[in-house]
Amino acid sequence: MARIRNIVILTGAGVSAESGIDTFRAGSDGGPSLWEQHRVEDVATPEGFARDPDLVLGFYDMRRAAIQTKQPNPAHHALARLDAQWEGGLLIVTQNVDDLHERAGARRVLHMHGEHLKAWCTACDTRSRWTAPLIDRPRCPGCGAAALRPDVVWFGEMPYEMDTIYAALRDADLFVSVGTSGAVYPAAGFVRDAREVGAWTLELNLERSQGSHWFQETRLGRASELVPAWVDEVLAARA
Ligand code: OAD
Repeated sequence: MARIRNIVILTGAGVSAESGIDTFRAGSDGGPSLWEQHRVEDVATPEGFARDPDLVLGFYDMRRAAIQTKQPNPAHHALARLDAQWEGGLLIVTQNVDDLHERAGARRVLHMHGEHLKAWCTACDTRSRWTAPLIDRPRCPGCGAAALRPDVVWFGEMPYEMDTIYAALRDADLFVSVGTSGAVYPAAGFVRDAREVGAWTLELNLERSQGSHWFQETRLGRASELVPAWVDEVLAARA
């Protein structure tokens, strides 16, 4: 720990599960999962949106409204504490489209799969903070076109800020993955990128992820318990 300066943390749906936000895939905890209730190709692809925009806009309107009623849990708060106190490099790369890391106070957060609370105008290519429904085709505050869509990365689209993420991974001494199944690339491959540059790799998850064998260390349990304990360890070792 004493030699660690740069930390990259990848988070997934498991970090928000205890805030009451459904994960995407069913896990051993038996909780509800989004992709069991909706077909990915209908609600999370550009083709699905072209086929039935009302279905897709309605789906994201519901999710956007729901996350605004949720609160960060101890895992988000612990990561925000680490962000505030860690003087070295730190980047929280989240696959989550909720804003719970930010609401817990974290600042060095990057949303590689977009954000529920933003709308993207496909006419003028600008993004605006958005908390209201999109189904009634509101106009873009910038150009006035009725061409807003959720600013969420769908399957077949390029995740955001990959250059920044890979630059952080190249400098990483410690890579930690929290609450992600390792089912979706490129995020699922970050552990290998981190291993290649000699970073220590740690997985914190309820159960082993699909790429679990790539991690040098795995701790299994709830994020609300594992993450605060790990953050305490990191900050104590630094002191
Ligand atoms: P998944 O739903 O695939 O996986 C959630 C992971 O969190 C599983 O491994 C669970 O075991 C774990 N988990 C559940 N509850 C937990 C808890 N309380 N504490 C710790 N771990 C817990 O979600 P992601 O891996 O985030 O992308 O999914 C990756 C991407 O697939 C998403 O960003 C989304 C989705 O399709 C797009 O839509 C582009």
